[in-house]
Amino acid sequence: MDYQSLLVSYEDGIATVTINREKALNALNKTVFAELRHFFSVEGPARKDLIGVVITGAGSKAFAAGADIKEFMGLDGEKAMALSQNGHEVFFIIEQFPKPVIAAVNGFSLGGGCELAMACHMRIAGAKARFGQPEVNLGLTPGYAGSQRLIQLIGKGKALELLLTADMIGAEEAHRLGLANHVVEQGEEVAKAKEILKKIGTKAPLAIAKTIECVNAYFDKNANGFQTEVKAFGFLAETEDFREGSNAFIEKRKAEFKGK
Ligand code: CAA
Repeated sequence: MDYQSLLVSYEDGIATVTINREKALNALNKTVFAELRHFFSVEGPARKDLIGVVITGAGSKAFAAGADIKEFMGLDGEKAMALSQNGHEVFFIIEQFPKPVIAAVNGFSLGGGCELAMACHMRIAGAKARFGQPEVNLGLTPGYAGSQRLIQLIGKGKALELLLTADMIGAEEAHRLGLANHVVEQGEEVAKAKEILKKIGTKAPLAIAKTIECVNAYFDKNANGFQTEVKAFGFLAETEDFREGSNAFIEKRKAEFKGK
């Protein structure tokens, strides 16, 4: 696919997906959503050697400043629900991606931008990152599951404070609250994300995929996370990588995983 609003590059098995709308502070419009959907459901899964994905924003000012407010003109109830549903679907695809996805938050991460970062498995904040859910300023709630994932990450009380005041918080506060996994110098976000992905790339790929599935099951009201883990454990015990991993431990050597 020829992307219009994303830049996609690969290095050492790691994909970097950059939202490329710098003049609009990387606001998430329909094209960005269609292209993210394509990357995470078609291009990414087709790359068998993929270790993981970093998502970031073009330029040094924004990760993504939210849904594209210019596309809100003429929105009625039905269209708004369709827009929200589409965002939920794309972010679920990212959350359930079987390889780790890390948001490298290089600036404003507001509204839909914060929701995108929260759908990723981890978040690395540059020193100038600013997080917030300012939808009440526009007379809206979050539309891409911010009201749900913010609670999962920072708890109900703090989530309500951020959602109801529309306050923005900086990188250190986001880290203190558990919204950001790490804070790094401005401009070092992608490098830190890649460092984490490289470490994960030395582990058994099927175990990584199943671990993501188990953790997601905790938050899925239709799933039993405990049973998901029991099944994952049984599934993995039948894999070549389990035999390789346990033999390597006994033989005091480094495991060579094949993802089988
Ligand atoms: N949608 C569309 N365009 C946006 C945008 C957005 N979310 N955020 C910024 N832009 C555009 C601005 O319109 C401006 O474009 P022009 O030069 O053509 O006028 C350009 O990006 C630069 O923005 P500013 O001049 O405003 O830059 P600033 O440094 O003065 O302010 C900011 C930066 C505080 C992030 C400010 O741009 C801002 O408040 N943006 C909106 C943030 C927001 O409300 N996000 C939530 C959107 S709603 C949502 O996301 C709902 C949902 O969950 C589905």
